[in-house]
Amino acid sequence: MSHHSDATLASRVDHLLEAAFRDCGLPTDTARSVPASRAELGDLQCNGAMPLAKTLGRPPRDIATDVAARLRELPQLESVDIAGPGFINLRLSPAFLASVAEEQLAADGAGIVRQPPQRILIDFGGPNVAKPLHVGHLRSLVIGESLRRILGALGHHTIGDVHLGDWGLQMGMLIAEIRLRWPDLPCFSAEPTLPEGVLPLGMDDLQKLYPEAAAACKAEPARMEEARAATAALQAGNPGYMMLWRAIRTISLDAQRRDFDSLDVHFDVLLGESDVQSLIPGMLDDLRARHVAVESEGALVIEVAQESDGKPMPPLLVAKSDGAALYATTDLATILDRKQRDNPDRIVYVVDQRQALHFEQVFRAAHKAGYADGIDLFHAGFGTVNGPDGKPYKTRQGGVAQLKDLLSDAIDKARERVAGNTEVSDPEALARSVGMAAIKFADLSSYRTSGYIFDADRMVSFEGRTGPYVQYACVRIGSILARASERGAAPGPITVDAPAERALVLDCARFPEVVTSAAANLAPNEIADYVFGLAQTFSRFYNECPVLAAEEEATRASRLALCALTRNVLVQGLTLLGIVVPEKM
Ligand code: ARG
Repeated sequence: MSHHSDATLASRVDHLLEAAFRDCGLPTDTARSVPASRAELGDLQCNGAMPLAKTLGRPPRDIATDVAARLRELPQLESVDIAGPGFINLRLSPAFLASVAEEQLAADGAGIVRQPPQRILIDFGGPNVAKPLHVGHLRSLVIGESLRRILGALGHHTIGDVHLGDWGLQMGMLIAEIRLRWPDLPCFSAEPTLPEGVLPLGMDDLQKLYPEAAAACKAEPARMEEARAATAALQAGNPGYMMLWRAIRTISLDAQRRDFDSLDVHFDVLLGESDVQSLIPGMLDDLRARHVAVESEGALVIEVAQESDGKPMPPLLVAKSDGAALYATTDLATILDRKQRDNPDRIVYVVDQRQALHFEQVFRAAHKAGYADGIDLFHAGFGTVNGPDGKPYKTRQGGVAQLKDLLSDAIDKARERVAGNTEVSDPEALARSVGMAAIKFADLSSYRTSGYIFDADRMVSFEGRTGPYVQYACVRIGSILARASERGAAPGPITVDAPAERALVLDCARFPEVVTSAAANLAPNEIADYVFGLAQTFSRFYNECPVLAAEEEATRASRLALCALTRNVLVQGLTLLGIVVPEKM
C-alpha cells in the first residue's frame, strides 16, 4: 500500500533523542542528530550534550553518559558510544534500518514529506518577443522548471508563468521597421485587416529584423523617433498595429513553445508584459493619490531607500514624462494582477542575478504601496553561463549564443557518445535524452548564483559529476531488475547486513530531507549533489554485494528490493531536476 510519509529517518531518530533527553530531565532543544562525521563511528551522531553542559554547569560527558544509558534501551539502536568531550555516536539496528527502507519503498514519491500547501507563483523563462531564446534563458528555464517540480512535489500549488517580454519600445521598433519595408501590408491601410498568412515573416525573419531595427534606431535619431511614435500608437490601441503586434507575438510564441517542449519545460500561464498594461493608468493614479509615488524632475518615482541600507538604493522610476511603459512599472502592475488572478502566498522570480537591484526596488515599492500584502516576493537570481575563458558565453563570432545552438552542441556530443550502442532502438531519441540530461545537470549542479562553464564535452561524459552518469546508474539498476525478473527472482523483505547495504539504506533515507532543504533554499543543486552521491553509494554496494549472484535466495530478494528502492529514489530525484531516465543506454 502506498502512502504519504510524515517522518524522515532523521526526524524519527530526533524523536528518540528528545524522549531520552526528557527522561534525563534535560531540555530537548539540542536533542538533534546529524550524519556521523565518520562512518566507522556510527550512522548518526548527537552533539547536544556540549551546549547543555555550559548552561547546566555539568561536564558534557556526564550528560552524554546519562542520555546514552537511556538510548541503549531502545531496539532501534544497535550501539550507542560516547566519544571525545561528549559526542553521542549512534548505530541504528539492522531491523530498524530494514523497516525504514521497506517503508520508503512503499511510500509515494520515495518518502517526500508534504508541507502545508501554499500557492506559489514562479516567474521564469521570460523570453522577449521576436528575439530568440539565448543562453541566459537556459538557466531561467532549467532552474525555474526544477523549482516548479520540487515545490509541487512537496504539495504546493504552483503556477508557472512565462512572463513574456511582449510590450514597449522593442515592439514599436519592429512595427516601424516592418512598415518601412512592407508599407502595403493591409494592416497599414485605412481599414486595417491582417488575414492569416498575409504577413511574409517567420520566426527566423523576425529574429533578423529585430537587431537590424534596433541598430537603425541607435544610429539614426529619425528612425528612433518613428519607433517611439509606433510604440505610442500601439499603446494607444491603433487597430492595425495591434493586429500586427498580435501576429508577431503568435509567431514568436509558437517558436518559443517548441523550445520549451524540447527542454520539457511547462508553464501554466503564458502571460506577458502586455497583459497588465491596462492596469497601469489606474495604478499610477492610485500611487499619486496616496502619495506613495512623488513627482521628481518631471518623472514619477517611489522612494524605496531605507535607513539600514548599506548600499545606494535609488528611487524606483514608475513613469517618465513621455508616458512610455517601463519595465519596473510593468512588474509592479503584474504583482497587482497576480494578486487578483492567483492570490499567491509567494512569487519567486527566476531571473538573472544582474537584475537584483531592479527586483529589490520593485519589491520594496510593492510593499510600500500595499500591493503585496501577504505575498512573499523573492528573487531567485542566477549567475551567468560562461565560456571556456570564464566570461559570459559567446558564439564563435562573438555574439550572444542562442539556446538552440547550446542544445544542439550537447546533443551532438551525446550522439557521439552513444554511437555504436546496438541495444537501443532509437539512438536519436537517446542522444537527445542524454544531451538534455547533460545540460540540465551541469546547470543545476552548481549553486544557482554561481556562474558555470559550458563545456559540452565534459557534461555529456558518463564518468564524473554529470547527468549521464546518474542516468546510467538508473539504467543499470533497471537492467539488473529486468534480468532478475527474467529469471523469476523477485524483490522481497529487506535485511540490512553488509556495510554497503547499511550505507545505501542510510543514503536513500536522506532523500526526503534533501528535497525539503532544496525547496527551503530554492536550490536544486542540493538534489543534484544528492543523486550523484547516491549513484556512487550504489556503485559501491554493487561492487561489494552480489545481487543476482547472491548465495542465499533471501539475500538476493533483499538486495533486489534495495536496487528497486535506489532506482525509485534516483528517478524521483532526476525527475525533480527535469531529467528523464531512458529505458536503455
Ligand atoms: N524579459 C526579461 C529579460 O529578458 C525577463 C523577465 C523576468 N521577469 C520579470 N517579471 N521581470 O530580461
